[in-house]
Amino acid sequence: MASWLPHLRGRLADERGLPRLRVLPGDGAVLRLDVEWPAAGAVLGRVALVTGGAQGFGREIAEQLADLGCWVAVADLNLAGAREVARGINERHGTGRSLAVEVDVADEASFAAAVEDVVAFFGGIDLFVSNAGIVRAGSVGEITPEDFDLVTRVNYRGYFVGVRAVAPVLAAQHAAAPEHWFDIVEVNSKSGLSGSRKNFAYAGSKFGGIGLTQSFALELVEQGIKVNAVCPGNYLDGPLWTDPERGLLVQYLAAGKVPGATTVDDVRRHYEAQVPMGRGCRPADVVRAIRYCVEQAYETGQAIPVTGGQTMLH
Ligand SMILES: NC(=O)c1ccc[n+]([C@@H]2O[C@H](COP(=O)([O-])OP(=O)(O)OC[C@H]3O[C@@H](n4cnc5c(N)ncnc54)[C@H](O)[C@@H]3O)[C@@H](O)[C@H]2O)c1
Repeated sequence: MASWLPHLRGRLADERGLPRLRVLPGDGAVLRLDVEWPAAGAVLGRVALVTGGAQGFGREIAEQLADLGCWVAVADLNLAGAREVARGINERHGTGRSLAVEVDVADEASFAAAVEDVVAFFGGIDLFVSNAGIVRAGSVGEITPEDFDLVTRVNYRGYFVGVRAVAPVLAAQHAAAPEHWFDIVEVNSKSGLSGSRKNFAYAGSKFGGIGLTQSFALELVEQGIKVNAVCPGNYLDGPLWTDPERGLLVQYLAAGKVPGATTVDDVRRHYEAQVPMGRGCRPADVVRAIRYCVEQAYETGQAIPVTGGQTMLH
């Protein structure tokens, strides 16, 4: 028996107002769930697990999903950062709305322990946002096999390890309440849809993520799980780009990646100019796409660009 299974029953007894998904007494080992979403298919009221939630897109996704009425587990390698995000959510929305958990997304034991903690706390998981990801940009000569392995480990293997840990929870819930479906959303990238110059390790891991998304979708549809990816453009206001020491803006300036650029603002304008809509991607854009994945009952296996027109599907 999976170690998290007994905790699924916990939602019935929860007094925090959480049990939109109520566990009723089952027949023997079979769970029966009485799900009460506030509105059919709505993101509101779901328990969301967001990896890489300590900063950047993940932090904003966790906070905005909480603002939309989700219960949010903030999972990250950086436990102190995850705790800060969860504390802020609990201050705004009440104690118990958010839980911080430590996870290394590519480590199976670490992910299994995180899932057990989340299910023990919330009584289940309804939406898994696989967001944690890293970048090591550089040319074929610069990127070492070790860099390549690291990017592949977190972005590609980490997505599989997460789905392997979370999907059985979602499947058990669907088996208990077959009229309800549950969601996995990968935060992919525009670099998962078209190649990225001097950023092949990242682009390869993200192309691989689309292959996993489509394949997981084909398999897990039988278990009541939709699997989709959202593919943001550059989050030029986020910490990955703006960090004054290690951000991509200063790195690309130093590397001369943008011909003629002499300041970080030049670099930024160069990337903005590549977007038909003239600006970088914002977390609210990504959250809207995640909501679409959850609220659209009739779609799975898709990779949705969120790029202001920079990447178009064909
Ligand atoms: N920033 C962008 O411009 C951009 C654009 C498109 C897609 N994305 C994607 O969005 C996601 C988030 O990117 P971001 O820019 O917010 O990154 P970020 O570097 O700001 O934050 C990433 C978070 O993931 C955590 N993390 C890293 N490795 C981990 C691991 N092994 N286990 C658990 N947590 C780990 C970090 O501690 C950090 O909190 C990534 O998948 C990235 O590929 C980012």
